[in-house]
Amino acid sequence: MLFNLSEEHLMIQKAARDFANDVLKPGVIDRDENSKFPTEQIKKLGELGFLGMMVDPKYGGGGLDAISYVIALEEICKVEAGVGTIMSVNNSLVCWGLEQFGTEAQKQKYLPRLATGEIIGAFCLSEPEAGSDATSQQTKAIDKGNHYLVNGTKNWISNGGSASVYLVIAQTDVAKGHRGINVLIVDKGMPGFVVGSKENKMGIRSSDTHTLMFTDVKVPKENRIGEEGFGFKFAMHTLTGGRIGIAAQALGIASGAYEAALEYSKERKTFGKPICQHQVIQFKLADMATEIEAARLLCFKAAWMKDQHLDYTSAAAMAKVFASETAMKTTTQAVQIHGGYGYVREFHVERMMRDAKITEIYEGTSEIQRMVISRELLK
Ligand code: CAA
Repeated sequence: MLFNLSEEHLMIQKAARDFANDVLKPGVIDRDENSKFPTEQIKKLGELGFLGMMVDPKYGGGGLDAISYVIALEEICKVEAGVGTIMSVNNSLVCWGLEQFGTEAQKQKYLPRLATGEIIGAFCLSEPEAGSDATSQQTKAIDKGNHYLVNGTKNWISNGGSASVYLVIAQTDVAKGHRGINVLIVDKGMPGFVVGSKENKMGIRSSDTHTLMFTDVKVPKENRIGEEGFGFKFAMHTLTGGRIGIAAQALGIASGAYEAALEYSKERKTFGKPICQHQVIQFKLADMATEIEAARLLCFKAAWMKDQHLDYTSAAAMAKVFASETAMKTTTQAVQIHGGYGYVREFHVERMMRDAKITEIYEGTSEIQRMVISRELLK
């Protein structure tokens, strides 16, 4: 068993770290404060190959393993978790789902542009009444012969306004339950498809999250991914991989907050010495570092299992639940170590604390991850 990163992994880590520090850091507070989408930064991220990291090079991707993806996401989310959301949805849910289950024509049509960041994609599962209970889809895709007629509303869709391609999960045959659900590729601009209001979020504010409305949208049959009724399974498979990405995002938020707190603790003096020389701070730093290391190992294990084509359902859920809870704990302690400075924008850690919360909610809440893990245990 080897714990060291390969030369290639180290190069990817350095490229992602340099990008985060040079390109993301300068505007991160402004984008958070004003909820600004990082258009230029995402373009550069795509040029560097970070938007289609695992896509086969024949479709314009990097052909890299999932471990590289975890490494890159950690570095990027240390600085701007909002960019991590955009990157994670595009890589894990949209590119991976299309490459794994799409037809050759669908892959040729969409993957090269998605993998290079020329366009980005969105994954549309959540609805006002179907979040955790994802089989309760109210959006309908009625079979009309050569096309589906789509009607309904999707909520909290990451990349909702900025995407050009949307993978929309919708119910075709209610009587068949989850086997009556389809996944359809909807292009922006299809008549009847409207991007609704943008959410004013607590965290990951540079990513754009929208409501989407579908009114009699005609989606050609050739835009269905997989067999009739495969939509729910498609969502489950893609979300399982997606959970590794969110775990890596949480890991990045935690390690970014830890590094900031460590540095601050060496500079800030109280009672005549740097606060890092007080045992109460040392113990906090020790706990933060230990939990981050454990989260990183769980992320790598899940990614490694994915790369080995093993069943990584439980490993991904474990990585996500542990890393996201570590992100919440670590960022809260990082604010505490900073004291009053931690409560203001300039010191970054309050943003990280707000960003951390979403990792316990999206792509399956912590409760859902525990449900997934326990189901696997009790199989
Ligand atoms: N992989 C593959 N197939 C799976 C699966 C998985 N991980 N989990 C379930 N399935 C299959 C089952 O085998 C079953 O198929 P069969 O009937 O053929 O055997 C089918 O799916 C239905 O499974 P269940 O009966 O277990 O389904 P359920 O209704 O009990 O739900 C659940 C299971 C795990 C709770 C699921 O609903 C779930 O994961 N919910 C959370 C949804 C979620 O993560 N939403 C996030 C929104 S997307 C998002 O956040 C993206 C973003 O913008 C960042």
